[in-house]
Amino acid sequence: MGNDVNAASASPAPGKWLGWKVLALLNGHRRTVAALSLLVCVTAALDVAVPFITRGVIDGVVRSLQSAKIDSLRSLLLAAGAILGITVLTRLLRSVYNYRLFRVMSRAEDEVKNAAFANFLSLDTEYHGGVNTGEVIGALDRGGTASFVILYEIFGQNLLPPTLVLLGVLTALLMKNVWIAAIVFLPLPAYAITVGRLSGRMHRLEYLISHAFERVTKESFDIASNVRVVKKFSRERQEARTQRDLLYRARHHHYQGERLWAFIENVQSLFSTAGRVGVIAFGGFLVLTRRCSVGEYVLFIAMQDMVYGPISQLSIILPKLRRNLSRAERMFEILEQGRNVCDVPNAKRLTGPGRSVKFCNLSFKYAGAEQWTLRDVNFEIPAGSTVALIGPSGSGKSTLMNLLQRLYDPQAGRVLIDGEDIRLMSQSSLREQISVVPQEVELFSRSILENIGYGKDEVERPAVESAARTAQAHEFIVRCEKGYDTQVGERGMRLSGGERQRLGIARAVVRDPKILILDEATSHLDNESERLIQVAMEEITEGRTCFIIAHRLSTVRKADIVVVFNNNTIEAVGTHDELWHSSPTYRKLHGIHVAEMPKRPAVVKAVEEERDLQPVAVGE
Ligand SMILES: Nc1ncnc2c1ncn2[C@@H]1O[C@H](COP(=O)(O)OP(=O)(O)OP(=O)(O)O)[C@@H](O)[C@H]1O
Ligand SMILES: [Mg+2]
Repeated sequence: MGNDVNAASASPAPGKWLGWKVLALLNGHRRTVAALSLLVCVTAALDVAVPFITRGVIDGVVRSLQSAKIDSLRSLLLAAGAILGITVLTRLLRSVYNYRLFRVMSRAEDEVKNAAFANFLSLDTEYHGGVNTGEVIGALDRGGTASFVILYEIFGQNLLPPTLVLLGVLTALLMKNVWIAAIVFLPLPAYAITVGRLSGRMHRLEYLISHAFERVTKESFDIASNVRVVKKFSRERQEARTQRDLLYRARHHHYQGERLWAFIENVQSLFSTAGRVGVIAFGGFLVLTRRCSVGEYVLFIAMQDMVYGPISQLSIILPKLRRNLSRAERMFEILEQGRNVCDVPNAKRLTGPGRSVKFCNLSFKYAGAEQWTLRDVNFEIPAGSTVALIGPSGSGKSTLMNLLQRLYDPQAGRVLIDGEDIRLMSQSSLREQISVVPQEVELFSRSILENIGYGKDEVERPAVESAARTAQAHEFIVRCEKGYDTQVGERGMRLSGGERQRLGIARAVVRDPKILILDEATSHLDNESERLIQVAMEEITEGRTCFIIAHRLSTVRKADIVVVFNNNTIEAVGTHDELWHSSPTYRKLHGIHVAEMPKRPAVVKAVEEERDLQPVAVGE
C-alpha cells in the first residue's frame, strides 16, 4: 500500500502534453475529423439561427396584434415551417455527426490499445518481471476507454459544438445589445476561476480514486490467479477481508469525489441562475422602457440559456476530461516505455548450420541487485555438444541461459554464437534457433495441439504428434477425452506437473531448434517416463547444441561437457573424469550422492542400476 500512497501523492499534472498525446491519436484520421468539424460548425450556425427566427415570429405577431391586421399569418406559417425544417435538419446532421464520430473515436481507441499491448509484449524481460500483469491489463483497458471518452467529449456534443454555439451567441449578442452581452458574459470569468480551482481539487482526488481502484484490480487478479494457494493455506477469509478493505478505501475517496462534484454542480447552477435573473430583469426593463421589442426580449432569454447550457456542460466536461487524462496516463506510460534490449540497426539474421556457443568474460547482475549473479564466465561449447550445467540452487544456471537467449544484456562481456556477438543479431532470429523447456512449463488456456505447436506459424498435426511421442506425451494425450483437441485449462492447470513438462518438451522439440535448453525439464516426471525420455534424449539432442540443467548424475555423465557453477561464477568446465579431480563442488555433489546410496531402498537402487545410474566411487 505504501507504494501506492507515494504514487498517488506524487500525482503528476497530466497537463497539456498528455492532452496533446490523446489528440495525436487522431493523426491518422485527420480528414474525417476535418469533415466532422465542418459539419459541427454548420449545426452550430443553425442552432443560433433558430432564436432569431423565433424573435421575428414574435415581433410579427405583436405587430399584427397592435395593428389588428392578419396579413402576417402567412409569414407566421413560413417561419414555423422554417423552424421545423431547421430543427429537423440539425437533428439529422447531428445523428450523422454522432455516428461518424463514434466510429472514428472507437477506431482511435482500438489503435492505441493495440499499440500499447504490442509495446508491452515487446518490452524487456526485466520490465515484465517488475510489473503486475493484472494492473497492466487493467491500465490498458481503462486507458483505452479513457482516450475514447476524452476524444468523444471534445468532439462530441459536449465540448466542441457547445463552444462553437457559445462563440456564435457571444458575437450575436454583442451585435444586438452590449448591455445584455455584458450581463450574460461578465460573470463567466469569476465562474471559470471558481470552477477551475474546484476542478483542480477534483483532479487530485480522481488520481487517488483511480489508483485505489487499480490497486483493487491488481490484488484481486493476484488472488484469483493464485486461488489454489489461497485454498490450500485456508486464507479465503483473510483474502476476502483484504479485498473488502481495499474496496472500502477506494470507495472512501470515491465518495469524497462525489461530494465535491455535487458542490461544483451547485456553484455552476448558482452562476447560471444569477445570469438568467439578470437577463430577465434587465431585458424586462428594456421592454418596458420600449428600448427593445418583445421578440428581442425572448431572444435574449433564449440566448442566455444557450450560453449557460454549454457552460454547465463545460463544468461537467472539464473535470471529466481531467479524470480521464489521469486514467489514460498509465496507458501512455506503457505505450512509451522504452527497451534496454534492442536490435542494433541492420541486425543480422542468425543463419548457418552449426551452433557453437562461447561466453567471454561475462558478468551480470539483475537491476537493483548489489551482488553479481554471474561473474567472469568464460567457456566455449562446440556445435552439436551436449552440455550439463550443474551447481547449487541460485548459482545462476537459469540466468546464464536467459543471457544466451538475450532476455537480458550482460553488464560486461559477450555471448557469441558461431563466433558472432548475439547483440549484433536480430532477437527474433536468435530466439527462433533456441527452444527452452523451463523449470515451470507455462501453458496457454488453449488446446494441447495449439500449445505444442505454439512456437511455429503453421504446424501440421503429424509433426505435433511426432514431437509428442518423442516427449513421451502421446499416450496420455490420446487418453484425454478430446485427444489433441483437449483444452488444458488456465495456465495448463488441468494437467499434472509431469504432463505439463512433457508438453513443454514436445513444444520445444517441434520447432526443430539448433540450440535446446532443458532447464530441469524432467524434474516432475516419474522414473519410467524419465527413463523413456532419456532414451529419446539421443534423438532429441542429435545434431543440436544442448544445454541440460539437471541434478541427476545420469544426465551429467552422458554429457560431453559439464559446467560447474558455484559462488556466482563457473568453478570448472570439463568431462566427468576431469572434474572429479579439479572441482570441489562437483566432488561434493557426488559425495552426497554416494553417501545417500546405502540408505536407499534396494528397489530404488535396482531401478537406478537399470538406468545406468551407478554412482561414481571416489577415485573413479
Ligand atoms: N528476475 C530476477 N530478478 C532479480 N534476481 C533474480 C531474478 N531471477 C533470479 N534472480 C536471482 O539470481 C540468482 C540466480 O538465479 P537462477 O535462477 O539463475 O539460479 P539457478 O542456478 O537456476 O537456481 P535453481 O537451481 O534453483 O533453479 C538467485 O539468487 C536469484 O534470486
Ligand atoms: Mg534455475
